[in-house]
Amino acid sequence: MTMRVYVLNGPNLGRLGTRQVDVYGVTSYADLVKLCETTGRDLGLDVIVRQTDAEHELLGWLHAAADEGAAVVLNPAAWSHYSIAVRDACAMLRGPLVEVHISNIHAREEFRHHSVVSAVATGVICGLGVDGYRLALHHLANRRDQPA
Ligand code: DQA
Repeated sequence: MTMRVYVLNGPNLGRLGTRQVDVYGVTSYADLVKLCETTGRDLGLDVIVRQTDAEHELLGWLHAAADEGAAVVLNPAAWSHYSIAVRDACAMLRGPLVEVHISNIHAREEFRHHSVVSAVATGVICGLGVDGYRLALHHLANRRDQPA
């Protein structure tokens, strides 16, 4: 059976490519979607990519992923730093969760250094640009055939 992976993106990530390009790079959100879909296809994963600026919408997607037992790649964006609701939804996931940040949050303002999500994530990738998403998908594909 094909492994389903939800790639979920939080607020302002839809503006990639024009938003603070010195920090987030020039890859547009549309290009990020293509990168994830192409990588997923090459790895034989069923990848679904989404972005929202509405917290309740992300919570609904996480609940659905929890119900399905699906794997999740999540860039919670600003919610990383304060949303206990997003963390609690992540804690319900049964599949692996890879938290991704495009920028190195530890090298930025102090309020970005802590992510409330990280403690319930399987692993965290940060500071590697949009390549972090590709690496997260490779990791999930690698662990697909390993016993839990
Ligand atoms: C981000 C880092 C967050 O601090 C910020 O609020 C974002 C994006 C990143 O991908 O580097 O929106 O998660």
